[in-house]
Amino acid sequence: MKKAIYLVLAFVLLVLSACGNGTTTNTTSNNETTKSTETTETTETTETTDSKEINLYTARHYDVDDTLYAKFEEETGIKVNVIKGEADELLERIKREGDATEADLFLTADAGRLFRAKDEGLLQAVSSDLLDEQVPANFQDKDQMWYGLTKRARVIVYNKENVKPEDLSTYEALTEEEWKGRVLIRSGENVYNQSLLASFIEINGEEQAKEWAAGIVSNLARDPEGGDRDQAKAIAAGIGDVAIMNTYYLGQMLNSEDAEEVKVAEGLGVFFPNQETTGTHVNVSGAGVVKASKNKDNAIKLLEFLSAPESQTTFAEANYEYPVNDSVESTELLQSWGEFKEQNISLSALGDNNAKSILIFNEVGWK
Ligand code: FE2
Repeated sequence: MKKAIYLVLAFVLLVLSACGNGTTTNTTSNNETTKSTETTETTETTETTDSKEINLYTARHYDVDDTLYAKFEEETGIKVNVIKGEADELLERIKREGDATEADLFLTADAGRLFRAKDEGLLQAVSSDLLDEQVPANFQDKDQMWYGLTKRARVIVYNKENVKPEDLSTYEALTEEEWKGRVLIRSGENVYNQSLLASFIEINGEEQAKEWAAGIVSNLARDPEGGDRDQAKAIAAGIGDVAIMNTYYLGQMLNSEDAEEVKVAEGLGVFFPNQETTGTHVNVSGAGVVKASKNKDNAIKLLEFLSAPESQTTFAEANYEYPVNDSVESTELLQSWGEFKEQNISLSALGDNNAKSILIFNEVGWK
């Protein structure tokens, strides 16, 4: 009797496994899902390659980046061939080279520029559990075409002798009468400012963003010229009292070998605007895997390496940028400027609103 039951059971199992392909697949994929959530270090890439190199097109020119690439080579045995240039030149080159391009990874400052690469169809989506763990969702492209690697804050810097922090509050307040002829900021052609305005468009709408831009133009201490560092120098020279600039320039100046730069930076205070309202504007340097990449796996590995805690600390220490990986603490100097609330938007919006920003800058005469 028992034997008969076993036989029936065995038959039923046989039938189930023969017609149950769907069931079998589901079980396997469920197992895989479980495995990848448990072991967060597993990437989801399916492509495998034996290649031991990666070609990186980068618009960043910092020594610390080269140090990190050397460390990556040492740890993985994957050679990083670095091709440096201006962001727009590199993009043109990737476009021109088409499918034959050797570029695997494109790295540049500003989400607005990363958007351009995506918009031109030069990047591809990649997915990696480790990247998702290390780079918060709002610092990634919404379609996973690029990932932020370092964070920067665009703040108000002020002359400590003429301005008290109590005099400052928001980016919007700089358009008020008391700041007439005292505000310094670089050109509207610069992508940092385009992204700043793009964030205001996202948060406050186009009308208010335009009002802000027009208000700043009418309070400028001089026609926009030079880079962020030059705005700091113009404060020291008495041309204006406040400037909008990225904090890492101040870190670089404070640690500069040029005594004059150190003196300029020491006379300046850092103020994080909009703490009671919408938060301070933040942006990223980041990178995306090139669509025609021949070494996609290695490109993802480099992205994972650069967003890992150790690399994030190195970026913060050497270049005074904030870690994008929120498991990492920023450095003593960065902490000395204070904690701050960030704008609560996805940086994808900076790219989406870039064209509108340029239009507004032209309309209000922000040179
Ligand atoms: Fe910069």
